[in-house]
Amino acid sequence: MTIDTYWETPIYSRQYDDDEEWQQHLTTLINAKMADMKASGVTNIADENVNFSAFPDIEERFKLAFDTLCESAGHPCNYTMTELNIINPMKFGDFKSVHSHDVIDAFAIFYVDTGNSVDSGKLRLYDPRWQSKKAFAPGKPYKEIKPETGLLVAAPYYVWHEVTPYLGSETRLSLVCNMTFNEIVE
Ligand SMILES: [Fe+2]
Repeated sequence: MTIDTYWETPIYSRQYDDDEEWQQHLTTLINAKMADMKASGVTNIADENVNFSAFPDIEERFKLAFDTLCESAGHPCNYTMTELNIINPMKFGDFKSVHSHDVIDAFAIFYVDTGNSVDSGKLRLYDPRWQSKKAFAPGKPYKEIKPETGLLVAAPYYVWHEVTPYLGSETRLSLVCNMTFNEIVE
């Protein structure tokens, strides 16, 4: 007799402990970039691809997250991560309903500034069995991650996820990076 466990899902998370000067520098650069985008006529900041290379350490951090996911899944670390990079400012009431991604292979988020509401705007990562879950899968159908400044989370594209409504009065700021494989290993 054998009991095997199939379809495990790797989720990457790392809490960075940056000093205030570093955080302030990053926030200043991001605010300047958003001001520049608005001046160029961009109305929805989160719809535009942004080059993260001007931001300190950010590309390296996302790359480490994706490399680690690849290694855990036994997939070559051959991917592109510069085509869907987004600055995501959230204001009071903003949320993201449950979705997954089909044109990318992994997504990641880095919390730059979690705003002034400690208990909202949470990231929920759904158990891949969430749509049909009546037995053999105890507990809630999701893992809820509370945003912390300096936290980076990455997951494969098929993980359904949402962001619960953000209830702070100050803008919450995060960076989202999406990765697409250059080669598919079946
Ligand atoms: Fe997403």
